[in-house]
Amino acid sequence: MHQQRTRVAIIGAGPAGLLLGHLLAARGIPFAVVEHRSRDRVLSRVRAGVLEQSSVDVLESLGLADGLHADGLVHGGIHLQHEQERFHIDFEALVGRTVTVYGQQRVQADLMAAHDALGSTVLYDAADVTPADDGDPVVRFTIDGEPHELHADFIVGADGFHGVTKSLIPPALLAPVEREYDAAWLGVLADVPPSTDELIYALHPDGFAMHSMRSPEVSRLYVQVEPDERLEEWSDDRVWDALDTRLAVPGWRLEHGPITEKAITRMRSSVVSTLAHGRVLLVGDAGHIVPPTGAKGLNSAVADVAMLGAALAEQAGGDESALASYSDRALARQWKVQQFSQSMTDLLHVPGATTPADERQFRYRSRVGQLRYISGSRFAQQSIAEQYTGLAIR
Ligand code: FAD
Ligand code: DHB
Repeated sequence: MHQQRTRVAIIGAGPAGLLLGHLLAARGIPFAVVEHRSRDRVLSRVRAGVLEQSSVDVLESLGLADGLHADGLVHGGIHLQHEQERFHIDFEALVGRTVTVYGQQRVQADLMAAHDALGSTVLYDAADVTPADDGDPVVRFTIDGEPHELHADFIVGADGFHGVTKSLIPPALLAPVEREYDAAWLGVLADVPPSTDELIYALHPDGFAMHSMRSPEVSRLYVQVEPDERLEEWSDDRVWDALDTRLAVPGWRLEHGPITEKAITRMRSSVVSTLAHGRVLLVGDAGHIVPPTGAKGLNSAVADVAMLGAALAEQAGGDESALASYSDRALARQWKVQQFSQSMTDLLHVPGATTPADERQFRYRSRVGQLRYISGSRFAQQSIAEQYTGLAIR
């Protein structure tokens, strides 16, 4: 049996867990991270692509922004589109802020490399990870069949939506509040230079489409599909046809290229009622998930971690007040983010196939009306710009 003691045991080496490790390292607080997947598997997840200005600021403050400054694409706005009309929301002019397009895979790789350089304890391939807290917080797991025990003052669940840490919080207190959506996203990566300078979010009678990117050579594109749709039903040609139709505007052409990755992601909103129970704390997807429209998943994880890292540092200095208010502060911010993600999702998606035809038509028309209102209203645009570029982290 391998026994170890640290101050903060972090479960999950995704972006939330590794970033929290860096915040603690910067303040001299001992920690260890336990991850059940392999390092390569963690690195291979494609997922999110847009960093809020607030997230960039957090990474910068820790000296973790060299990669994103070198290769990230700074965007001063987004394009919204409906019925072949495209308009621009100019974040820089409206709120003086930008976002940075830099894939989650790159964020993950940068965080891992920086932990390697620090010599941090990040244990991959841990099986049967089981946290317990009966007065003495401990995480039990095995590596290569060998049992391990990691004793700690705090256990932080950074283990994503399907993680195990939240099982330590009594169900009546955890009480997640959830919403299902009758849509899913089929996302592809394609080896083709982006056909746009900034992201395009489009509403079309066939459904939502989006044009994002990962680099000047790689495009990231999404189309709305039914939640139960199978990937095999979507040949590469069918994906390009749908993108051509839904993103069309006069005088503009979508360039095609080889598709290198294709996956369907269902959408759900879920927010637990507390992120803290005694010495057990939750951050990121372990506590809440959003539908992806608006790019808030990864950014919300960064915001939680920034708040919790500062609170744990104050606690180490003898002041418990920031830790005591962590859950309330993070959830208050998260509910603002949920509201934004939900409204962007509702605005840009058509109702699922089971919705009666007249109801579909009404909702579609009213969404076009809303997009037309936004295209002509500085107030509406400013609100989107403020929320898209990221709310303050307090
Ligand atoms: P995760 O990235 O989920 O990391 C959790 C880590 O914990 C993982 O490494 C996992 O292996 C590990 N873990 C889980 N269980 C255990 C256990 N029992 N023991 C040990 N380790 C464990 N957001 C956007 O903004 N835009 C997008 O386009 C987008 N696309 C997404 C597509 C998919 C398929 C998914 C799942 C999410 C997507 N998101 C997107 C959301 C975004 O990726 C997440 O919000 C972000 O990854 C949250 O980071 P996290 O560290 O909290 O959780
Ligand atoms: C990407 C994902 C999003 O959810 C979004 O709103 C914008 C961009 C992306 O993967 O690039």
